[in-house]
Amino acid sequence: MSEKTKQKILVTSALPYVNNVPHIGNMVCVISADVYTRFLRLKGVDVISVLGTDEHGTTTETKAIEEGITPKEVCEKYFKIHKKIYDWFESSFDCFGRTSSKENLEITQDIFKKLNKNGFIKKDILEQAYCPKCKKFLADRFVEGVCPKCGYKDARGDQCENCGALLNATELVDAKCKICGTKPITKKSEHLFIDLPKLAPMLEKWVKEQSVKGKWSQNAKTMIDAWLRDGLKPRCITRDLKWGIPVPLKGFEKKVFYSWFDAPIGYIGITKECRKDWKEWWFGKDVRLVQFMGKDNIPFHTVLFPASLIGTKDGYILLDRISSNEYINYEGGQFSKSRGLGIFGDDAVKTGIKADAWRYYIMVNRPEKADTDFSWEDFQSKINNELVANFGNFINRTISFINQFYKSEVPEAKPDKKDEKLIKEINDDIKKITDLLNDVQLKEALKQIMHISRLGNQYFQEAEPWKKKENADTCLATCANITKDLAILIRPYMPETSSNIFKQLNIKELGWKDLGKVLLRKGYKINKPELLFNKLEGKDVERFKKDFGGKKVEGKREESVKDAFSKLDLKVAKIISVEDHPDADKLIVMKIDLGNEERQIVAGIKKYYSKEELIGRNLIVVKNLKPVNLRGKESNGMLLAAMEKKDDEENVKLLSAKNSSPGDDVFIEGIKKEPKKHLGYNEFREAEMRTDAKGHVLYNGKPLKTKKQKITVEGVKENAIVR
Ligand code: 2FM
Ligand code: ZN
Repeated sequence: MSEKTKQKILVTSALPYVNNVPHIGNMVCVISADVYTRFLRLKGVDVISVLGTDEHGTTTETKAIEEGITPKEVCEKYFKIHKKIYDWFESSFDCFGRTSSKENLEITQDIFKKLNKNGFIKKDILEQAYCPKCKKFLADRFVEGVCPKCGYKDARGDQCENCGALLNATELVDAKCKICGTKPITKKSEHLFIDLPKLAPMLEKWVKEQSVKGKWSQNAKTMIDAWLRDGLKPRCITRDLKWGIPVPLKGFEKKVFYSWFDAPIGYIGITKECRKDWKEWWFGKDVRLVQFMGKDNIPFHTVLFPASLIGTKDGYILLDRISSNEYINYEGGQFSKSRGLGIFGDDAVKTGIKADAWRYYIMVNRPEKADTDFSWEDFQSKINNELVANFGNFINRTISFINQFYKSEVPEAKPDKKDEKLIKEINDDIKKITDLLNDVQLKEALKQIMHISRLGNQYFQEAEPWKKKENADTCLATCANITKDLAILIRPYMPETSSNIFKQLNIKELGWKDLGKVLLRKGYKINKPELLFNKLEGKDVERFKKDFGGKKVEGKREESVKDAFSKLDLKVAKIISVEDHPDADKLIVMKIDLGNEERQIVAGIKKYYSKEELIGRNLIVVKNLKPVNLRGKESNGMLLAAMEKKDDEENVKLLSAKNSSPGDDVFIEGIKKEPKKHLGYNEFREAEMRTDAKGHVLYNGKPLKTKKQKITVEGVKENAIVR
């Protein structure tokens, strides 16, 4: 059965964005790649597998703003979370790394330089949204405003969450910078483009051959055909961001690469991070590259990445086989961490259900041709009917019977026609499974494995070894060897279960070549039985449904019950001094008294207040807002003001507490304060405060106050937003 060849196989799984905790739907790709790799290892193929985190780009920057930490800190924090979850799911990747490594930087810059040298890079000028206050270009998702299609007021510049319309930041009505609320302007910026039209002839030739040779999945073929038919356009590969790989070209030093440029190169970077022989894999003649990903990743792996590699003329290996899956949904909807909806990696750990059972469920529900749905009922039924009643039962009854009635020794087999028939059927199945696995049809192969244990159960049932002694010996000897085959076959999917079966059989862990052989013969002593899986009880299922069914359900999770206001630490502050910012026209630098400490804050209110109007006043400050550096001056907190539009001009009025003392707490009755140390601006914004007709400030209809008075604001109308 073994196919010893000199050929090497390099397996990759799409690198997940680092900024989120992966949910079980995200695990499809990772576990698929792991199953396939484990199968190849068992066959004796020279294989390595690569996984890691995709760390650059706006998704990471957004998270950093949300959490009030730097992008680098986001990566450090979530990289560990990802690693821990994959380890728990028994993923066995040979290389696990990150796209922000120095290796990836070197390779990305090298690939770019070669592309440039070979004439595949063009320059062009783009018009982009720019925030004059933050002094930076804004990625589409950093612009917010009213959706021009449905009127939803908090639409993002790339997409409206309400109606789903895909947007450009420039289309939004009343657009605002998501970070500071300022209206963005459009500004020109020069960018670099990979010249896909020029690379197209080479790319098309390769796609034509390879999609057939590599048996690409239908969704991949359809997508790439459409792309090529519509004609490739130059693709921008640079961004005006700080977080990313710097562009090594004169005049572009302040820009970084588009994260989809360096993410796939990350596969190479990660290999280099952990293998001295990385070049043998990425430039080798006999290496096949097999890549697993979700369907939205197809264009990047079939066009952008191969085009980048072809354009270097360095002889990199290219995608051979693509396995692109659809998605798993949660109980008919989408997973959402913030709404507490769905099973995330860290939740799966907490359920007490074994990793192998999750791996089984995810693979048997693998969304190969269409989306599939996770539901607790389905999960329970598959665990109880397939793992416990079918697979586990066959193995357990075989091992228990030999222990109980044969003093743990395998009896002698004298197969007759009926036994031969079963053995042949099973050997046919083994062949089918091997073909399916070679063909990366992981779901079908798994179903076929379950077919073997079903046959085994039927055979055991019909032989009735507990009744007829003459049948019994052959039946149990045959079942013992089928058990051994099942331990091998299931190993890629459920490695721990497989090891457990080998242990119960008292045999060393075997490989694919040992399938179908009679290895357990008369007198072979096995070990005691042990249950492989536990039944999933109805009451547990009910509990899980509540725990993971979203916030509105009873049994809420901690993160969801916290009130947005409770995270804020608001205090009364007296202004001690005011100076102009040396390097910014619109900013002033103030010293404030917080009762037991003095602080410096920087604010953009020069246009609205003179020094005299400020000094000595008691204002309200967000004390725990993450410190920021504004053009060289640290700002340690933020003054609160009410804002509204008046004759097309912004009207800004500071909140005050005349009769209170510096350091007095600002609170709302009935909301317990649990401020974080460092609050991100977005977290702050979640607590929406507005003015009422009497000049007070309300949150959820209740006034903000100190122990002496209500907080007041003069000169704005009702319903002005407080920021
Ligand atoms: O879709 C995603 O989750 C991307 N982070 C996948 C990147 S795959 C590779 F290019 F890194
Ligand atoms: Zn801004």
